[in-house]
Amino acid sequence: MNNADQVEYWNGPAGQKWVDQSNRLDAMLAPFADKVIAAASLKPGESVMDIGCGAGALTLRAAAKIGAAHGALGVDVSAPLVELARSRAAEAKLAARFELADASAFTAPDPADIIISRFGVMFFEDPAAAFANIRQSVKPGGRLAFICWQGLSGNDWALAPLKAAMPFLKEAPAPADPTAPGPFAFQDKDRVAGILSDAGWKNVAIEPAEQAIVLPGDDTESTAKFMMQLGPLSRLLAAQGIDEALVEAALISLMQDHKTPNGRIAMKSACWMVSADNI
Ligand SMILES: C[S@@+](CC[C@H](N)C(=O)[O-])C[C@H]1O[C@@H](n2cnc3c(N)ncnc32)[C@H](O)[C@@H]1O
Repeated sequence: MNNADQVEYWNGPAGQKWVDQSNRLDAMLAPFADKVIAAASLKPGESVMDIGCGAGALTLRAAAKIGAAHGALGVDVSAPLVELARSRAAEAKLAARFELADASAFTAPDPADIIISRFGVMFFEDPAAAFANIRQSVKPGGRLAFICWQGLSGNDWALAPLKAAMPFLKEAPAPADPTAPGPFAFQDKDRVAGILSDAGWKNVAIEPAEQAIVLPGDDTESTAKFMMQLGPLSRLLAAQGIDEALVEAALISLMQDHKTPNGRIAMKSACWMVSADNI
């Protein structure tokens, strides 16, 4: 399996952006860690492996729940994010270890009781092969619990910057392959169910999870700046020679309808909460 493009992406400017914005991203994504932790029903003494752990926020949450007996293991391909995760674990004095590895090829030395992930499993070139390999790292009778995004149309936080940019684009971006590795690759619930059963997982359950995302930034301007940096938008604008300031102004105006009483911006999101067993 060749995940080279994703490995390069998460070790380049995108990975660095996640490192630089890690505290803000973790605050924004905290409700989704809550959902995974709740679905995982972790018990003290269990062992956990977190796939595509990034800077380790979910791994550390899990480590705090299970205690030090076996600890939590985070796996990620991004060197800068793994480095940050390791330093966070040391600072928090939590029993969490981090492995710089491609989860589609890595096997844990000691199989875990449960595999978890927050938005870290949608980037495999061959997802069925990757999930079959991941299953080798969980004990017989072990379980899987992860959260992934539904499609763009249910995720206003991701759609809004694109909507703001649309009138300024000189040419429409080529329609994306909805199954290509990326944040929305698992939008089709039936496809996800098929991938997991092809990979040998049983009792696959996929539930919708809708949640308002409170975006980082104390005012609309700083929120818009943050959102312009998420995803491939700034690259698209640069490629077409479009002034980012114009799009940012359009985004600020579009966000006025999404203000909370305390002046923050909250937008709709839609995810799938996925669970399965290894029996
Ligand atoms: C959207 S980020 C989520 C990070 C983290 N789970 C969080 O919620 O903060 C996706 C993560 O998946 C990682 N990733 C992508 N492909 C991977 C692979 N083949 N094996 C392991 N990690 C991978 C990326 O490096 C990145 O850290």
